[in-house]
Amino acid sequence: MSKNDMWGGRFSGGPAEIMEKINASIGFDKNLYKQDIQGSLAHSDMLAAQGIITNEDRDAIHQGLAEIQHEIEAGTFDFKTELEDIHMNVEARLREKIGDPGARLHTGRSRNDQVITDVRLWTRDALDGLDALMADLQRALIDKAEAHADVLMPGYTHLQSAQPVTFGHHLMAYVEMVGRDRGRLADCRRRLNECPLGAAALAGTSFPIDRQMTAKALGFDRPTANSMDSVGSRDFILEFLAAGSIHAIHLSRLAEEIVMWMSDRFAFITLSDAFTTGSSIMPQKKNPDAAELVRAKPGRLLGAFISVSTMMKGLPMTFCKDMQEDKEPLFDAVESLTLAVAATAGMVDDMQPRPDRMLAGLEKGFPTATDLADWCVRVLNLPFRDAHHVTGALVAKAEARGVDLAELSLEEMQSVEKRITSDIYSVLSPAASVASRTSFGGTAPSRVREAAAAARKQYL
Ligand code: ARG
Repeated sequence: MSKNDMWGGRFSGGPAEIMEKINASIGFDKNLYKQDIQGSLAHSDMLAAQGIITNEDRDAIHQGLAEIQHEIEAGTFDFKTELEDIHMNVEARLREKIGDPGARLHTGRSRNDQVITDVRLWTRDALDGLDALMADLQRALIDKAEAHADVLMPGYTHLQSAQPVTFGHHLMAYVEMVGRDRGRLADCRRRLNECPLGAAALAGTSFPIDRQMTAKALGFDRPTANSMDSVGSRDFILEFLAAGSIHAIHLSRLAEEIVMWMSDRFAFITLSDAFTTGSSIMPQKKNPDAAELVRAKPGRLLGAFISVSTMMKGLPMTFCKDMQEDKEPLFDAVESLTLAVAATAGMVDDMQPRPDRMLAGLEKGFPTATDLADWCVRVLNLPFRDAHHVTGALVAKAEARGVDLAELSLEEMQSVEKRITSDIYSVLSPAASVASRTSFGGTAPSRVREAAAAARKQYL
């Protein structure tokens, strides 16, 4: 085993095979190659502007890095485990290509500030990509909600038939959830958008670097204020994973509803062949696999959060090699969430409600019982608690006879409350119930259309 060419000055031997294996991160941090090169371009520009390296060195570095990026993208770059990570792989290749100027690139910089600059840049890109996908999901939900603002369906609490709602109103609930999820991720982006480059190993550097310049060149709002915090903190990753987990949880709820609505007991929606799979043995099957996988993804997100937070817990300042373990959970979380959002948007676009089935669902469970009670309050001036009692007795009567509330005769109604008139039947249809829910944020189709228009303005 040979000594490490990057830091082997004080070493007389090379690492044990297992040391090299546990130490290497190149297998996954090669994901960061673009950000690593971007950071080195900005750093070398700054070094030249400050007279720390010559313009010729800078030009050679730029040329060399451009070639390296090309090699990586063409798949011809030889990633080496003995060079540990993406930072040393790129730098070693640069020195191989251009010699001395390449060896000057690491002036006033450490892998500690380099890696966290790369990860911040990478996460920022990931956040921007996710935000665009989440907006697409909102668009799909709003479009569908508007198209089906009048479609009646049972609304549930405890998964028991509660009150009639519209399919559009139900979908708009998710537009709100996704809107808050986007807000949480936007907060995370705002806090992460500070540049750690120039913190060097942990204490800053004696070279006359210009941190404002590199921060600006890399699109950060400002440089980070404390060099130790810069290299020793990973809370932006935790914040992303926490907010990402919440979003994954929201998606899993919609996914579960899609699974339920697809089951033949509900049959509230259809999904085309584009978002279902068949069974290799049961020819009749059409399985909502995409929805089931979206329902499963929170495990990965929450797992990543637990993994990184446990890794960070109790770490002394500043950088510790433990932190190398932040990347795989982060990468997996982004990939999982990206798939989940995109698949959900696809399913929402694809799904078609079955209004007949939803209406059939409204025939069970007395979903207009509240409307009956409200009528007694409004017309008979009964206190709500008494009206609730009267309605309960009528529900019991209907249940015993196996009929709907609207199918009770006026005499049956009056046997419970003698002042009830035939006007009561006007509030017992699901359509009348929904139309009457005109309070702000309510399910009346007019309100749903209004909410869809407002959401389009706010979010898209
Ligand atoms: N591969 C390391 C990581 O992923 C980069 C920083 C290493 N710094 C060090 N001094 N060993 O965090």
